Amino acid sequence: MLVKRLLKKLRRKTNKYVKQGTALLKKGRPCLVEGGSERNMNRYKPSREEAYNLLREYNSDESLIKHALAVEAVMLHFADILNVEDKEKWGIIGLVHDLDYEKYPDEHCKKVREILTERNWPEDYIRAIQSHGWKICTDVEPVETMEKVLYTIDELTGLINATALMRPSKSILDMEVKSIKKKWKQKSFAAGVNREIIQEGARLLGMELDKVMEETLKGMQKVAEEIGLKGNIE
Ligand SMILES: [Fe+2]
Repeated sequence: MLVKRLLKKLRRKTNKYVKQGTALLKKGRPCLVEGGSERNMNRYKPSREEAYNLLREYNSDESLIKHALAVEAVMLHFADILNVEDKEKWGIIGLVHDLDYEKYPDEHCKKVREILTERNWPEDYIRAIQSHGWKICTDVEPVETMEKVLYTIDELTGLINATALMRPSKSILDMEVKSIKKKWKQKSFAAGVNREIIQEGARLLGMELDKVMEETLKGMQKVAEEIGLKGNIE
């Protein structure tokens, strides 16, 4: 009798979970039912389209959109040269890394956790995004290679952008690393670009600064037109 009662109870519980799961799936949400493991929750994978729409929802400043596209392109480029399997993930993280900056500048790198948790984004995406503000707006240290790349190239894209705009061609397509290095040394040029962070990032990555500059430039060149840095080069 006891076994029968237990089986009946188990069946009732199973039916309840199945119903809840079906309801969530109908709503287009990731399937997370009561009693489901955290691992199940993290199976949800945001798409590039979702990330881009989210970026547009939270950002109206076109220069921030262009910065996001530049960082996305560089992340994709590094994922490529490092033979990363899930390149799209690297790109998405680059694309939304400053998601909360325009609307919540005082909560930058913090608010993003709330926004993305609500949408069931995986923890590793959120952590990577937060870690780009290490020692500035978070204490989340970049540990994964993906996190170290983002930390290193974020500020560097700003320096490259500013350098390109000083050129007669206003383009990154005909730019060489030596132009970036020249501007790197002029501390008053693009003074807002924190060169120490870039240096620290290169150290964390175990890459020469020149190499980081070269690859970041290559990544940005791939989307020169989209980020407004094609200039007058045909
Ligand atoms: Fe950024």
